[in-house]
Amino acid sequence: MLSVQDLRVHYGGIQAVKGISLEVQRGELVCLIGSNGAGKTSTMKAITASLAFEGAVRFKDRAVAGQGAWDLVGQGLAMVPEGRGVFARMSIDENLRMGAYSRSDSKEVLQDLAQMYALFPRLQERRTQLAGTLSGGEQQMLAMGRALMSRPELLLLDEPSMGLSPLMVDKIFEVIAQLRAQGMTILLVEQNASRALALADRAYVMETGLITLSGPAQDLMHDPAVRQAYLGEA
Ligand SMILES: Nc1ncnc2c1ncn2[C@@H]1O[C@H](COP(=O)(O)OP(=O)(O)O)[C@@H](O)[C@H]1O
Ligand SMILES: [Mg+2]
Repeated sequence: MLSVQDLRVHYGGIQAVKGISLEVQRGELVCLIGSNGAGKTSTMKAITASLAFEGAVRFKDRAVAGQGAWDLVGQGLAMVPEGRGVFARMSIDENLRMGAYSRSDSKEVLQDLAQMYALFPRLQERRTQLAGTLSGGEQQMLAMGRALMSRPELLLLDEPSMGLSPLMVDKIFEVIAQLRAQGMTILLVEQNASRALALADRAYVMETGLITLSGPAQDLMHDPAVRQAYLGEA
């Protein structure tokens, strides 16, 4: 479904991504782990064509380069960006409806809206509240709900658990597990490596712009180097 080949991203003289390749098959949950500054967000932005890059990124066998964000959403590629990116001065309800902007099936949009409120009851209680006044966890739920409103085939999640309380982290991972069980294809970027690896089918480890390890998530979870670097083991 997604194929990334020899991807390079630089900011002026800084090479943030130095030629990485990865792929995500339909129905897989793939995670990308790595420390701060490894190049994960730059990779996600390149996949959604929201920054300039070199190399090849193909979604459903079509190059993403040169396509607009809304075109890609229309084709089934949705991203929940790092830091959530909700529309602060719009209500929860308006944010969710914005997620369906690329759709024309208004009756089903209403059904999906009801589904989002069933998935996130906290959002329903606050549906007229401005998104900017929500807690970090609520904003994360809203950002995920908004992405899901586009009925994505591939969902990109960039550090969804970052900065959240333990209870909210549990809720977010619970939702990811639920989406996965429903068959959604997901590429998950996480610093919470143990939680991500526990859920994922496969994983890639990224370090200073390069992929240094990849394989089945279970294998990486038991890899001594991964345990030491990312799972807090001495
Ligand atoms: N807009 C930018 N301008 C300059 N350098 C950037 C910019 N965004 C990211 N970088 C640099 O690129 C590298 C990778 O960043 P990023 O992709 O955000 O990593 P990660 O998401 O893994 O933390 C870091 O060294 C970061 O400082
Ligand atoms: Mg990042």
